[in-house]
Amino acid sequence: MAIKKAWGGRFKKKTASSVESFTESISFDQRLYKYDIEGSIAHTTMLAKCNLITNREKDTIIKGLKGILKDIENSKLKLKTEHEDIHMNIESALVKRIGDVAKKLHTARSRNDQIALDLRLWARDQIQEITKVILNLQLEIITKAKPVWQGVLPGFTHLQHAQPILVGHYFLAYVEMLERDRTRLGDCLKRLNKSPLGACALGGTTLNTNPEITGKLLGFDSVFDNSLDAVSDRDFILEYAAALSIISMHLSRFSEEWIIWSSQEFDFLDIDDSYCTGSSIMPQKKNPDVLELIRGKCGRVYGNLFSLLTIMKGLPLSYNRDMQEDKEAIFDSSDTVKECLSILTELIKKTTLKLDNMERSCSKGFLDATVLAEYLVGKEVPFREAHEIVGKIVGVCGKSGKELSDVSIKDFKQYSPLIDKGVYNILGVKNYIKQFKSHGSTSPKSVQKQISAWERKLKKLMV
Ligand code: ARG
Repeated sequence: MAIKKAWGGRFKKKTASSVESFTESISFDQRLYKYDIEGSIAHTTMLAKCNLITNREKDTIIKGLKGILKDIENSKLKLKTEHEDIHMNIESALVKRIGDVAKKLHTARSRNDQIALDLRLWARDQIQEITKVILNLQLEIITKAKPVWQGVLPGFTHLQHAQPILVGHYFLAYVEMLERDRTRLGDCLKRLNKSPLGACALGGTTLNTNPEITGKLLGFDSVFDNSLDAVSDRDFILEYAAALSIISMHLSRFSEEWIIWSSQEFDFLDIDDSYCTGSSIMPQKKNPDVLELIRGKCGRVYGNLFSLLTIMKGLPLSYNRDMQEDKEAIFDSSDTVKECLSILTELIKKTTLKLDNMERSCSKGFLDATVLAEYLVGKEVPFREAHEIVGKIVGVCGKSGKELSDVSIKDFKQYSPLIDKGVYNILGVKNYIKQFKSHGSTSPKSVQKQISAWERKLKKLMV
């Protein structure tokens, strides 16, 4: 026997089973059960306050909903494809449980405002969860940097040696990136926290309802002002998916860097065995697969964002069933990014930095060329000229295999008579690092200050 549909009044034929399986969303929207029930309880409370149902009816419905919540959590309620989605599954379970009074629950409500509500409640929780996971990662990075912040390594542009930087400075850059990610989610949350419940199908209702009541009960900052927009809007999902894409891009950049750094060519770090995998044929291999997968998963997170943008682009107002396709994409992005963030946190903790190799690598590539040019600026040589002079010296050193600090004063003087013995106090990466003084630079003072400031800030935010 086919199940009677809640919307079946006008239908003379039963739904084709291929249509049932094509249109169902229960297989993936079941994860919204908690929010759906929470929304229904608030809605029921509002209906009673507005005298659209009696207090007794309200109590019966709420008790029934709470029972269903328990049953779902204990896997006692069988969710059925014939009931299409989470909303209809819960509603039909309620009818079965408490009888006809359950049929009053959907007064002044549509699945259109119901799903918009469920998604907002879900996204709100997810954002709060991911915010914490980002905080954890930021703190792990600071913890990693703290004991080794004074180490030096080559800073790169174009993946070519550029200027020496402190290990602490390197790590702080990622803390900044992640801070933008974290606060971007916070911005998203502000716009998202508006209740759509009460918009009904699209035009509102002729019944005397009060969306302010449900909005407040569900912890929203405000309530929709236009019912048509309230049921059509998925910007909050797009924004969340975009924020997740940027996070994923950041994690991918970090992963790419550490994959390169763990190569035999760089050998700047050693990822713990427990966070690597091997080769089925080459016995010597230890591969950074976790990092590669974090980099790879960025593809699906971007893909989800594009699916969502594309789903929405052709939709006339208001609700269209296309919008059901938003769920799998955003669920996947949210799950994927959360997992990437936490596994990366573990991996960083378990990785050994090879500080000696980092420092040794600093002797290559004339990392101290810019400090020599700035030294000449200090002697009143115009910067462009100083650049030219140092460029020539570097060119010659490159051929003879010398570093800048190996050049004798006599030879320096051939390029500029202004160079004197004091030059040896600024050449070499360790000397150079001490010379940095500009705001936010890799100067030891600035890096040390930033590490303690971040540590303080993050620990405060953790509680
Ligand atoms: N499963 C639907 C979705 O996810 C719920 C809303 C259905 N509304 C409707 N009028 N068919 O979008």
